Amino acid sequence: MCGIIGYVGGREATPLLIAGLKRMEYRGYDSAGLAVLADGALTTRRAAGKIARLEGTVAATPLAGQCGVGHTRWATHGPPTERNAHPHLSKDGTVAVVHNGIIENANTLRSLLQGKGYEFRSDTDTEVVAHLVQELFNGSLEEAVRAALHEIEGTYGVAIISSRDPGKIVAARKGSPLLIGIGENEHFVASDASAILAHTRQVVYLDDGDVAVVEAGGYRVIDTNAAPLTRKVDRIDWELGAIERGGFAHFMLKEIFEQPQTVENAMRGRLILEDGTSKLGGLNLTHDQLMAIDNIIITACGTSWHSGLIGKLMLEELCRIPVAVEYASEFRYRNPIVTERTLCIVLSQSGETADTLAAMREAKRRGARTLGLVNVVGSTIAREDDGGIYLHAGPEIGVASTKAFTSQVVALALFALKLARKRGLSVTRGMEIAQALHALPAQIREVLDRAEQMEHIAEEFKRAPNFLYLGRGVNFPVALEGALKLKEISYIHAEGYPAAEMKHGPIALIDEMMPVVFVAPHDAVFDKVVSNIQEVKARKGTVIAITSRDEPALKGLVDYEFRIPETVDLLMPVLASIPLQLLAYYIAVKRGSNVDQPRNLAKSVTVE
Ligand code: F6R
Repeated sequence: MCGIIGYVGGREATPLLIAGLKRMEYRGYDSAGLAVLADGALTTRRAAGKIARLEGTVAATPLAGQCGVGHTRWATHGPPTERNAHPHLSKDGTVAVVHNGIIENANTLRSLLQGKGYEFRSDTDTEVVAHLVQELFNGSLEEAVRAALHEIEGTYGVAIISSRDPGKIVAARKGSPLLIGIGENEHFVASDASAILAHTRQVVYLDDGDVAVVEAGGYRVIDTNAAPLTRKVDRIDWELGAIERGGFAHFMLKEIFEQPQTVENAMRGRLILEDGTSKLGGLNLTHDQLMAIDNIIITACGTSWHSGLIGKLMLEELCRIPVAVEYASEFRYRNPIVTERTLCIVLSQSGETADTLAAMREAKRRGARTLGLVNVVGSTIAREDDGGIYLHAGPEIGVASTKAFTSQVVALALFALKLARKRGLSVTRGMEIAQALHALPAQIREVLDRAEQMEHIAEEFKRAPNFLYLGRGVNFPVALEGALKLKEISYIHAEGYPAAEMKHGPIALIDEMMPVVFVAPHDAVFDKVVSNIQEVKARKGTVIAITSRDEPALKGLVDYEFRIPETVDLLMPVLASIPLQLLAYYIAVKRGSNVDQPRNLAKSVTVE
């Protein structure tokens, strides 16, 4: 969501901070700012809007110094104006704070501090932290920060510098990701590894409750009571190219086109073709535990929730275990039935989504074992789950999730295959699915080779005010996902429905102005879908169909057709979702939307 970067070392901080902020701009981006320490004083620059605006401000009035912090903001408290942009300074200007998360007792602390003569200059919850640290300062920044953290309720990743204790950044984490980047005689603090990858691959992921004291020559991690902690050094294993556009017009397009590779990466070393099963090293589930599962709850948000719906169908079909798919934001606040024999599968690209994390913790608290299917290595969900399957899709920068979605479906299929084979699925059926998985990367390439065709279809519909997406069975979640992709980046109103459900209401919307996208590959329910297409045509709707064969039954019924290769029914969503990603992308580009950074959205939603 918001992004934090900090630098302390021998180089000028400003260009490093700006470059780091740009790398994180995809996370949240309605305002930005930085504070740099030089000659015993803090200087800040802040600007509403994109980082380019901040860059302009910095170019006009440069700021020097070798220790500083920066921030990109996605507004929660107060509008995205310059005065609400981070860093926030304490009353006397000696403390600068950048913060991700929400200080829940900000109002109480604000009244308390106002009583002591502190004047507030922003609408943010963060400003209380700056004044509180000033109030509690007694010669050591780390002491003051620790004392302040004891007063604060809520979630935070914070990075704080002070002119009264220069040459260090004090960072702390509770519920909002933060890492230390280790360089030579220089160190970084960041909320996202992409911000520092150009300088170092050595990182230390902080845990909740950690306080880090980061200086040019080294760092220490302590808890909020000053007890020293040992944290292991991890290595970021992806290349800088993974977070660059590499010739593509947008990250989203690059990520759509990466899918043959990312799907392959999700399966690498895991698929056992000859036994029709998979090998998943990180599950941390014994044979007995796998056999003891008597129900599965899948919890997630947004696109990840859609892949969860597909996972349910796979798991129920192959393993014959009942599966419920829950919106994480709902699950966490109700009284769900969870037992020690419940497996809770948590799906999250970022591994940081606040609701999903809270749902996982709730499931754990109630005795379930948790399994995280996560893309971002070292993320909170990945570290707190009982076992996991990394997606290995590489960094997903475009706000609209694409490659993570197909990798989630594949990871779910691998897990379903393993569990099913243990619980009685025949080796023949297992091998059929394993072969189909193996064939996917090449089939995705075939779909992508036809991208231009989808661009033409997009041209025809770029002005449509509404869209309906329909599918049945395993392709119903594909319809939901297609509609979500379109609405989030093109701002066209779109709805996804099970195709047969249309006649219970949405059919009233259909006329010659309503494009209807049918996900209609040749699968077990194809004939049923044809009947639904007829119902739309009878009402003069325009039909765009994702099909897999030259079907005589569709003659005269389909206005625009996009062909995908065939695979086993359960894996069809991997192939069928890609043309819908392309359709959304091309329509959005033709409408002039900012595809990678659509309005109001942020890449990872770390607040409730
Ligand atoms: C849509 C999209 C969101 C995310 C959702 C969950 O394109 O990206 O709907 O899927 O915010 O995010 P993760 O998967 O990071 O938990």
